[in-house]
Amino acid sequence: MPADLVIVANRLPVDRVTNPDGTTGWRRSPGGLVTAIEPVMRANDGSWIGWPGGSAGDGDEALEPFTDDGLHLVPIGLTAEEVERFYEGFSNGTIWPIYHDLVAKPEFHREWWDSFVKVNQKYAEKAAEVAAEGATVWVHDYQLQLVPQMLRDLRPDLRIGFYLHIPFPPAELFQQLPWRRQVLEGLLGADLVGFQLPGGAQNFVRLVRQRVGHKTHRDLVYLPDGRTVRAKAFPISIDAGGFEKLALTDSVVERASTIREALGNPRKIFLGIDRLDYTKGIYARLRAFAELIEDGHLDVEDAVFVQVAVPSREQVEQYRILRDDIERLVGRINGDLGRIGRPAISYLHNSYPREEMAALYTAADVMVVTPYRDGMNLVAKEFVACRPHDDGALVLSEFAGAADELRQAWLVNPYDLNGMKSALLEAYRAEPKELTRRMKAMRKTIRLHDVAAWADAFMAELATVSHSTHAKAVRPAKRS
Ligand code: G6P
Repeated sequence: MPADLVIVANRLPVDRVTNPDGTTGWRRSPGGLVTAIEPVMRANDGSWIGWPGGSAGDGDEALEPFTDDGLHLVPIGLTAEEVERFYEGFSNGTIWPIYHDLVAKPEFHREWWDSFVKVNQKYAEKAAEVAAEGATVWVHDYQLQLVPQMLRDLRPDLRIGFYLHIPFPPAELFQQLPWRRQVLEGLLGADLVGFQLPGGAQNFVRLVRQRVGHKTHRDLVYLPDGRTVRAKAFPISIDAGGFEKLALTDSVVERASTIREALGNPRKIFLGIDRLDYTKGIYARLRAFAELIEDGHLDVEDAVFVQVAVPSREQVEQYRILRDDIERLVGRINGDLGRIGRPAISYLHNSYPREEMAALYTAADVMVVTPYRDGMNLVAKEFVACRPHDDGALVLSEFAGAADELRQAWLVNPYDLNGMKSALLEAYRAEPKELTRRMKAMRKTIRLHDVAAWADAFMAELATVSHSTHAKAVRPAKRS
């Protein structure tokens, strides 16, 4: 049945898993996007188009649309070559580093670009097929930046929104992209282009003026065909209430104390949880911690750093190198500074369910989030939501989007190792009163600006900017 609301994202909100008996099933991916969009999806009988992971050819029967827990899901299959060129290649080897301040060197390959165009077309065609007359289509993230215009060409009756979850870079960096104009034109197919921060929206409007030559005024772009496109910031958030509730459950509280005991209670726990990505600044933060021990400011009897590194994009060369570098560093630090039963760093290369994450956040004393560049960083927000007793310290990079809202964190420049060392030490030594003052303020912010507010704000703005004469209104989410 055609849908009045269609979500288009690179990934489906479920991953395909193979059971021990060889059968395949679906597992809900833990990402925040699902929680955010689920209520709007349900209120509108929406459909979600995305890739279930893996490559086509190993189970085409699974590529029929299906319903999971009341959500209508439409899988898009990618061939092994598309996974390599569109996903690992252009999305994560070209766009990802350019949009993250060139923290790594981007590669430019014409065959990657060709595949990017082809796969974006595939998503656009699927969305055109699934969307009802006058439907609203919400396209997500950097992997699908060409979809808005492709979709508009196929279906001018639709109301189209786009949201970029990662930073949008300054013109000086974006300009390096050989296909810069095509990407801008792709995005301009949307009625509303959403960014994490106002700076991203400004970068975009400026580039459209300079590179495409359209007239702009503040956050509006005027297209020659009379259409206007709005570019605006909508900082994404988390299900703050859900995390807080989870952190207060008996099982999470118990698990948190088990973790503390296992780590040698009452050592103070520093915690980092990141996808294993070179933008996250994991290496530098572990060095900073190790130097504090070497300098005699911290002792392994009193402090431990728990670093969870979630496996990510493991086929991409730069990610493999990063993993080797970090694991070599952890080995060296523990070898040099650890004692029996007292490693300086407790390193875990794994991903964990929400409950375990909540227990880790609860067990920690100092949460360390130090990316070189990050669109938002939801881990920082989750940590805050999981501190219902207004304790615990957050050390946060100035270059994470979250730093705009979480002003009471210990803000650091991740390139400044000494600055990071001082902040870690201050956070470690902070008086309970100081911690409470800071955490109270941050929790208030997170509670007010949760993910439901984010989705509602985007949808409301999209309804006002779209001038489609056909588009139907999207019903707001029913919330408990
Ligand atoms: C970032 C991106 C998402 C992406 C996620 C995980 O948060 O903004 O679009 O889904 O990383 O990366 P992956 O490559 O595994 O989808």
